[in-house]
Amino acid sequence: MDVIRHRFDALVVGGGGAGLRCALALAEAGRRVAVVSKVMPLRSHTVSAQGGITAALGNMEPDDWRWHMFDTVKGSDYLGDQDAIEFMCRQAAQAVIELEQMGLPFSRREDGRIYQRAFGAQSVRFGEGQAHRTCAAADRTGHALLHTLYQRNLRAGTRFFDEYFALDLLRSTQGEVTGIAALSIADAGRHEFHAAATVLATGGAGRVFRHSTNAHINTGDGPGMALRAGLPLQDMEFWQFHPTGLPGSGSLISEAVRGEGGYLLNAAGERFMLRYAPHAADLASRDVVARALAMEILAGRGCGSQGEYIHLRLDHLGEAVIRERLPGIRELAMRFANVDPVQAPVPVVPTAHYMMGGIPVNLHGQVLDRDPVPGLYAIGECACVSVHGANRLGGNSLLDLVIFGRAAGEHAARTIAVDAPLPPAQADWELLARLDRPGTGETVACLRDALQRLMQRHCGVFRDGVLLDEGVRELDALSQRAQQLVLTDRSRAFNVERIEALEFGNLLQVARATLFSARFRCESRGAHTREDYPQRDDTSWMVHSLYWLQDDRLGSKPVNLQPESMPGFVPQPRIY
Ligand code: FUM
Repeated sequence: MDVIRHRFDALVVGGGGAGLRCALALAEAGRRVAVVSKVMPLRSHTVSAQGGITAALGNMEPDDWRWHMFDTVKGSDYLGDQDAIEFMCRQAAQAVIELEQMGLPFSRREDGRIYQRAFGAQSVRFGEGQAHRTCAAADRTGHALLHTLYQRNLRAGTRFFDEYFALDLLRSTQGEVTGIAALSIADAGRHEFHAAATVLATGGAGRVFRHSTNAHINTGDGPGMALRAGLPLQDMEFWQFHPTGLPGSGSLISEAVRGEGGYLLNAAGERFMLRYAPHAADLASRDVVARALAMEILAGRGCGSQGEYIHLRLDHLGEAVIRERLPGIRELAMRFANVDPVQAPVPVVPTAHYMMGGIPVNLHGQVLDRDPVPGLYAIGECACVSVHGANRLGGNSLLDLVIFGRAAGEHAARTIAVDAPLPPAQADWELLARLDRPGTGETVACLRDALQRLMQRHCGVFRDGVLLDEGVRELDALSQRAQQLVLTDRSRAFNVERIEALEFGNLLQVARATLFSARFRCESRGAHTREDYPQRDDTSWMVHSLYWLQDDRLGSKPVNLQPESMPGFVPQPRIY
């Protein structure tokens, strides 16, 4: 089959918030830029970001970006790089104003200023009291952000290739990345996109777990491509479990609910968070709240006939507040849990939500393999810069993607040599032939289900060495079974099953990176809780882990504790 070739100045793989912000910076700088996306951009997972984007605007009480920075460093359990956190928090207010000026319809205070709500682990004056720092468009902030950026890109002339699946990076023998090979989902056409800069913005991989708030498209395609190109992933042991997902569907029930005054109850009707976090209670950091929920359920204090969930109460907020500030949450609870939160508490469980690790990058989004890899950038959830360290704060993911999306776009626009000839790089189209050979084993659906169960059991909220060892052995066996994968559907939908098989390949590699990194880190920090190593160990583990697919190699690099404009925050015991 013929290969269709395209040439652009820059290529953005993924049409979520990070990709769109990056593409906009490139297009506005006059670069010819294409966004290649697995789904129509407005269906990207950014659309599900509910609660808001965090910035110290000071609209609700006096605020300071340094307080936001302190909270983010503490929230990261001191694993976040402080130069990167400083870079992000310092620019946050300006980034939100820029979005407002682009037309993002933020909720408003009575006086017309942007409404900001409380989110977990936010404080004023370096830990003194609760801040209200998360700028919201009701509970559909990501949705509003995505529409705003998409419209801006249309105006700026960005080209969109919707429903193309990125297979692999094109990399020259000198190591320069010159684009991607991709498959058109509609007609299975083979395409090569060539560009001086390739930006991975493929989002997360939360579908590696059985219970996940993530869209089905979040299959770690960017991290998979990076691993197969011989590049490392960083901090893959750190997965955020959001405290409040709906049992079954996993749909997110935003932290905004607790920010607006909702609270958690166990089967005895106790506000148990007061025991785990006496000051912040329900608004402690996510890792703390998720662990508390899991412990209440394990201790037999869960609600429901099997004690399998916790109650989130918000009826006391009143119908008017719920209708104005949490309309999407009400709809989700009614549709997926058959509960109207105006009348009754919502059942919730900790649910995989966010990948703190990813492809290592610098402040410009350049991918690092020690030094920047020529021609390659990564931004958003697939990247690790690292502003979230061992635990991300709510509202910082939308911020991360606009700050670093723009930084990468501006850097690429400044530095790429437009129209310079690109070194040759070969796509491995044989990959598809291998996939299409008649298999004798299990279907993708069956193998994926086994993988998700494995990861949930062996690498969930609580981990230990024995569980992780077993997890690695089971993953090896599953990878063997996957060699015999069989595609059953030879009809028009065949290409969809093929894409699912390719996505499953990426999930397998993300799972591998996660299990090996989790086994490597012998301490408990942030979202990584090792029952066999229950303490944080700053002497041995103030480092980022690195994982390479070849020989499952592991390594580490130091955390940057030195911001540019002030002394760094020294690691402290983390109490909320
Ligand atoms: O709870 C939420 O609304 C999620 C926000 C986030 O993950 O940043």
